[in-house]
Amino acid sequence: MTFLRPTDPIEVLRAEHRVLATLLDCLHALVLELREHRRLEFGTAEELVDMFDEFGEKLHHGKEERLLFGIVAAYGLPREAGALGIMAEEHDLGRLAFARMREALAAASSGAPRALPAFERAAEDYHSMLRSHLLKEDRVVFPLVDALLTPDTRAKLSLAMERADSAHPEGLRERITAQAEALAQRLHASA
Ligand SMILES: [Fe+2]
Repeated sequence: MTFLRPTDPIEVLRAEHRVLATLLDCLHALVLELREHRRLEFGTAEELVDMFDEFGEKLHHGKEERLLFGIVAAYGLPREAGALGIMAEEHDLGRLAFARMREALAAASSGAPRALPAFERAAEDYHSMLRSHLLKEDRVVFPLVDALLTPDTRAKLSLAMERADSAHPEGLRERITAQAEALAQRLHASA
């Protein structure tokens, strides 16, 4: 599967959520394997954590925080209050859970005895937090923004998002999309 970039900026964000959902399916499969069989393929877990970092934490969330939330704030909805405040706070909480997950994985792969259960807990936290966060954005934030955008602000947002994407390695989204699909198939993780 390739990532076909939609022209509408909100549709681009929704398409990125679908890639993140595939990565979450993979993470869930790893957690189940760990819980039921006490097994973890470190190479696979590291590959997955790197994809969440590059695609979710840096490319996607960064773009929402700098561009989407800013545009909505310009319509008079304060960033700190209501839905946007909750979304930004969840990005921060997600980053903390992500950092715990990455740290525990590094410790586990170097043989620390208690690091594997710590990775399992952090991965579960990150999984449930990000899963419910994506749902809230899909169902509440994106329809709200969609209704606020004029053709002019929509075009500006689209351009700003393209510029933001160009600061990341070329073809990152296409590469991660293909990598996520391949990993989901290998782990039998597609929802
Ligand atoms: Fe998002």
